[in-house]
Amino acid sequence: MSEELVPVFIMGKRYDVPHSLTIMKAMEYAGYQLIRGVGCRGGFCGACATVYRLQGDDTLYFGLACQTVVEPNMYLVQIPFFPAQRASYKISELSARPEQLFSLYPELLRCLGCGTCTKACPQDLDVKGYTAAAMRGDIARVADMSFDCIMCGLCAARCPVGEAQYNIAVLCRRLYGRYLAPRSQHLEDRLAEIGSGAFDEPLQELMGLNTEELKERYEARDIEPK
Ligand code: SF4
Ligand code: SF4
Ligand code: FES
Repeated sequence: MSEELVPVFIMGKRYDVPHSLTIMKAMEYAGYQLIRGVGCRGGFCGACATVYRLQGDDTLYFGLACQTVVEPNMYLVQIPFFPAQRASYKISELSARPEQLFSLYPELLRCLGCGTCTKACPQDLDVKGYTAAAMRGDIARVADMSFDCIMCGLCAARCPVGEAQYNIAVLCRRLYGRYLAPRSQHLEDRLAEIGSGAFDEPLQELMGLNTEELKERYEARDIEPK
């Protein structure tokens, strides 16, 4: 039995597509060859941000084309890139002080707290909340709250005051990782061991093995060494 077809409107043109397809597969079914607006196909890269409305419903919906299944009479458009401010910096020359955020992104303090960004986020992140944390200068909190951001840019597309929320968030995650995250002592110890050349000899030996020998070593490895 052939699969039920449903009408969808891609950039204004009607196509009848199988009802079980994701938006991305429906676009390909309709003949689009996606070069931009596609990446991982698994909900991780943020390349396939999509905006749509359903016929007779004035709500604006947001989703990832690779994760969202089509619905009848869906009017959609993809936004693979949205222009937003991106500060230029060298993380090694910064410090994890609140003023750092304000000097690189002065527009941060213009946030109205409207929450439109949160409604647009396909990852269901509290974008307004992490922006408020950034305004308080709480870099660790922003890093934690924005951890699942996939940089799709939909929040910035909706912001009435031109915030680049996701770029502010990635700055906070970088500052946190470089300056605030607790250091692991055994990582420091292992790095010192590597630096002292403790693994030079075994590495040289591994580099001299062929593919089959490497596979054998891999199979025979001790998975949980004492
Ligand atoms: S916070 Fe913004 S850029 Fe990140 S996933 Fe949500 S909408 Fe996309
Ligand atoms: S959309 Fe912009 S102004 Fe509104 S809460 Fe989000 S960052 Fe603030
Ligand atoms: S293609 Fe990467 S999130 Fe959809």
